[in-house]
Amino acid sequence: MKKIIASNFKTNHTRKSTKEFIVNVNSFLNKNNIDNEVIIFPTATALDEFVTVSNLSVGAQNAYYVKNGSFTGEIGTEQLDEFGIKTILIGHSERRHNIGESQKDITLKYNYYKSLGYKIVYCVGEPLEVKEQGISQTLEYVFNQFDGIDLEYDNVIIAYEPVWAIGTGLTPSIEDIETIHKKLKKKLQKPLLYGGSVKPTNLAEILAIPNVDGTLIGTSSWNEEDFKSMITTTNKA
Ligand code: 13P
Repeated sequence: MKKIIASNFKTNHTRKSTKEFIVNVNSFLNKNNIDNEVIIFPTATALDEFVTVSNLSVGAQNAYYVKNGSFTGEIGTEQLDEFGIKTILIGHSERRHNIGESQKDITLKYNYYKSLGYKIVYCVGEPLEVKEQGISQTLEYVFNQFDGIDLEYDNVIIAYEPVWAIGTGLTPSIEDIETIHKKLKKKLQKPLLYGGSVKPTNLAEILAIPNVDGTLIGTSSWNEEDFKSMITTTNKA
């Protein structure tokens, strides 16, 4: 299977710079005949009807589990449909831990978007205090994040992102990623991404780990040239 590469813009880029980024990445994929699956999650304000090659999709970092209604500050599928968005990120640790989304909220969101056939990138990962308790506690914590989540769903990609590795420059050892991905793959026969301080200098070695089907990248994907170089690395993996 060809490796997947996904970029999470988080709260970065404007509407204008997002458009430039997506147009340029799209023509890069086209020109170089790159057929890996590439996903970009811009901010909600930068969503638009992007014309892209079929292997590039643009997704929402978040949306509520409604079509429309009275949910101040949220967007629903009426707003996503306007731009033909059919991909969503669910369960990111910044939403779990900083914004306080519970497993119940996440499950409701997952089931709603599943019922509409969205491609879901579903994130799991343990905080530092759990990692420090050892591998079995880490696995138990991560497996609990699948509570209520239908792993038989056809259109789901799982991303394992240890919270302590996100935006910190720290990554787990190759052995730790290998161990956790192996255990996760036993539970789910789905594409499994690694995320957390992936950068041009460590991408190739991460992609070489068994059961790593691709990466979900924050910080180092916000620079267009770095992202393109990481697409090239992914294509060669
Ligand atoms: P960083 O690549 O900045 O560590 O972020 C990873 C991430 O959270 C992607 O969703």
